[in-house]
Amino acid sequence: MKRYRMSVCKGSSCREGGSDAVHVAAREALAEKGLQSRCELYRGGCYGFCHMGPNVVVREDTGRKRDPLSPEDYQLMGWPGEVYYSGMTAEKMRRVVAEHIQDDVPVRELFGQPDSGDDD
Ligand code: FES
Repeated sequence: MKRYRMSVCKGSSCREGGSDAVHVAAREALAEKGLQSRCELYRGGCYGFCHMGPNVVVREDTGRKRDPLSPEDYQLMGWPGEVYYSGMTAEKMRRVVAEHIQDDVPVRELFGQPDSGDDD
């Protein structure tokens, strides 16, 4: 059974776009489905794709010890199992929890394309 770490961007631009509601939806959906033990939820960011937010990054939890100096909380690392979702809403988040976290099937149609870093 896979385990995940899911970061909802807490940068100001994503928050203006509704990332707080996305975070709440994630917390509630994980609790409803009893998935908290399979997915650690936290706030990361800014990832530098502000114009595409609210941004969410899901990574498989490989049991790797966390390095507090790792840039993983504010940039994509290109690691296997890393998925970047853009333009997130509460509704889309419920889908990500149901399909990606619960069923281990990433939601391809919600994948973001990290392009030019536009730090606004
Ligand atoms: S504020 Fe979320 S990517 Fe910049």
